[in-house]
Amino acid sequence: MQDARSRGRSFARHCQSRERGRSWASSLIATAAIIAAVACTLVACGGGDDTSAADQAALVAQGQQTFRFDTFGDEAQWTDTLRMHEVISAAVDPVTALSVGLKVDADALPAAVVQGIQNGSVDLHSPATTIALLKLDAVVGLKGTVESVGGRDVLSHVGVTCALCHSTVDNSFAPGIGKRLDGWPNRDLNPGAIIALSPAIDAATKAQLDAWGAGKFDPRHNVDGMSKPVVIPPAFGLEGVHRVTYTGDGTELAYWNRYVAVAEMGGLGTVTEPRLNLSITHGNVDLVTSKLPALQAYQLSIAAPAAPAGSFDPVAAARGQQIFAGAGGCAACHSGALFTDANSTLHPPADSMAEPESPSYASRSATKLYRTTPLKGVWQHAPYFHDGSAATLDQVVATYNTRRSLGLSAQQSADLVQYLKSL
Ligand code: HEC
Ligand code: HEC
Repeated sequence: MQDARSRGRSFARHCQSRERGRSWASSLIATAAIIAAVACTLVACGGGDDTSAADQAALVAQGQQTFRFDTFGDEAQWTDTLRMHEVISAAVDPVTALSVGLKVDADALPAAVVQGIQNGSVDLHSPATTIALLKLDAVVGLKGTVESVGGRDVLSHVGVTCALCHSTVDNSFAPGIGKRLDGWPNRDLNPGAIIALSPAIDAATKAQLDAWGAGKFDPRHNVDGMSKPVVIPPAFGLEGVHRVTYTGDGTELAYWNRYVAVAEMGGLGTVTEPRLNLSITHGNVDLVTSKLPALQAYQLSIAAPAAPAGSFDPVAAARGQQIFAGAGGCAACHSGALFTDANSTLHPPADSMAEPESPSYASRSATKLYRTTPLKGVWQHAPYFHDGSAATLDQVVATYNTRRSLGLSAQQSADLVQYLKSL
């Protein structure tokens, strides 16, 4: 019988040509976009609009690659410091990986591997299979460097990308395996439990990280030492919203993208935030700054997903819209097409239904305030509020009804929920 290791090897071999095919295809797309842009400039086709549209498409395509596959050199943190490559090689088989919420990109799997998973000949209980998947760039948000040592595939480095937390898959192949859904928060992912596997983490920190739970991460923990995670938010539907994060810390995505890339992921570069008295530099090269424009363009190109047909009652939702604007008072803050007043106002902590909490998340931020959360696509990403304290939209409405003494009847509340589900 073939052992797991050699199965992993042959699995990996299948994949090499596929891997070349993929990078060849993506560079072809980028090249096509550049050729289109250049051709347009040369023949002055239809004025500047076409040129800038092609430029924009190229920028977005580049940003997608960065979002999915770029670690900004954060292997320094995940490999050199946390030694996650050793953890994965020793103990993380695909079943374990899926159980902590990691996702597999089915489009990255060659046909033979798909067949092997289906007929059971690919061993999902072997860490060698995880390494083979990493070699294919098939584990969403994890970037592995696999080297051949004595004829065996060895994971020499591992890093993380933005897609780890802000992408999931559509489960079209199997639970946890499917097509990428960029911008959709991975609410199954348990980042605390994953980091806690590192041999470099002391027992007290490990206990803190293990308590975070799925779908949450504390992006201030390593800065202020406190531990109170927030729900991983979507990275879609943000075009036009000029205050980013729950607390509106920055006026554009690039602000926070830089913060996360350096301060959280451990990418090589610099982030300074005088309001938090924070200045972090990793390494002596900058692998972050030049990528920020494309990364931002890509995120802004991701629209919030429309509510699936049949997932709400349109007649009740129409009644709910009246309550949203009227008796519920929701539109006072969730105003305009983006359902937020973020571009003009931030709110005192008491305006968050998750407050008072200890420690207050706002108090740990640069603004000490909260942003009214945009609501496009809100059906998609329960639980709600920055701490995830409302499990459903029914609970959101019930909380507002009680805390703000709205006096909504059961019927009005139900209609309002249908409206929220339709956004
Ligand atoms: C380990 C998980 C994790 C990774 C990796 C991660 N993020 Fe996030 N991201 C979060 C959490 C948690 C928040 C919420 C922080 C807040 O709002 O205070 C967040 C917030 C955001 C927001 C703000 C959304 C809004 O509504 O304003 C954007 C945009 C974002 N991340 C983009 C990125 C990009 C781009 C990367 C890669 C450079 C990245 N994130 C990497 C967990 C992660
Ligand atoms: C005074 C301003 C204000 C009013 C009025 C208001 N909200 Fe909010 N809303 C906020 C703020 C601020 C947040 C972010 C709270 C947090 O995450 O801690 C929020 C968050 C939410 C969320 C969570 C979104 C997510 O992705 O986590 C929903 C849903 C929501 N509000 C719906 C409503 C509804 C329905 C009403 C009317 C009954 C309403 N809001 C009234 C300011 C307001």
